[in-house]
Amino acid sequence: VIAIDGPAGAGKSTAARMLAERLGVVLVDTGALYRAVALVAQERGVDWSDGRRVGEVARSLTLRFGRGSSGRPPLLVDGVDRSEDIRREDISQGASQVSAHPEVRDALLGAQREMGREGGVVMEGRDIGTVVLPDADVKIFLTATLDARTHRRHEELVARGVHMDMDSVRREIEERDARDTQRAVAPLRQAPDAVRLDTSGLLLSDVVDELVRIVRERTAID
Ligand code: DC
Repeated sequence: VIAIDGPAGAGKSTAARMLAERLGVVLVDTGALYRAVALVAQERGVDWSDGRRVGEVARSLTLRFGRGSSGRPPLLVDGVDRSEDIRREDISQGASQVSAHPEVRDALLGAQREMGREGGVVMEGRDIGTVVLPDADVKIFLTATLDARTHRRHEELVARGVHMDMDSVRREIEERDARDTQRAVAPLRQAPDAVRLDTSGLLLSDVVDELVRIVRERTAID
């Protein structure tokens, strides 16, 4: 069981996916679950600030990951592939907002623990090493400077054909950072026993090599 946490734009999702591929284990992207809740709440006309009603939305959904041939595993919401819609920019902010409600976190906790129960998993998010899987075999906290995260996120958006200027991207990251680290329940923070890796200025391939090295050093996996 490998837990990877860190702020938006630290390179977590790509690095976690490549690590899972290298180790031949399953990847669980927990941010996708919060994104699904934000998306469905919006579609049902439920305000993201209404913790009680968004909690009901979260409890009503069946969320699971399918098998993809490459890239991120598809997210199935009540059996329907919503992988594209959950990546929308408004949904990034919505996910950060709905994830601050204890009702929502409670509703998603059981499913996340279930996905990690059998092991053979890389799970990434904000509170995996601290709350979801506190007994994980390896905990990693991936971070990077605000500048590096802004550039990375900007590139990612351009690649997806989304045009947002650098200042707006920076503001979006700062807003999410503030909300994700300052919320009362399960805020983003490094677990005391997590290995911290700053990815600023590192190539993705170097980050993945370093992650593999950290995992091998701490487990019998090779
Ligand atoms: O990793 P991401 O950008 O897909 O996450 C979207 C939002 O979901 C993020 O801003 C905070 C929230 N989140 C969370 O609170 N806890 C997690 N384990 C994963 C994501």
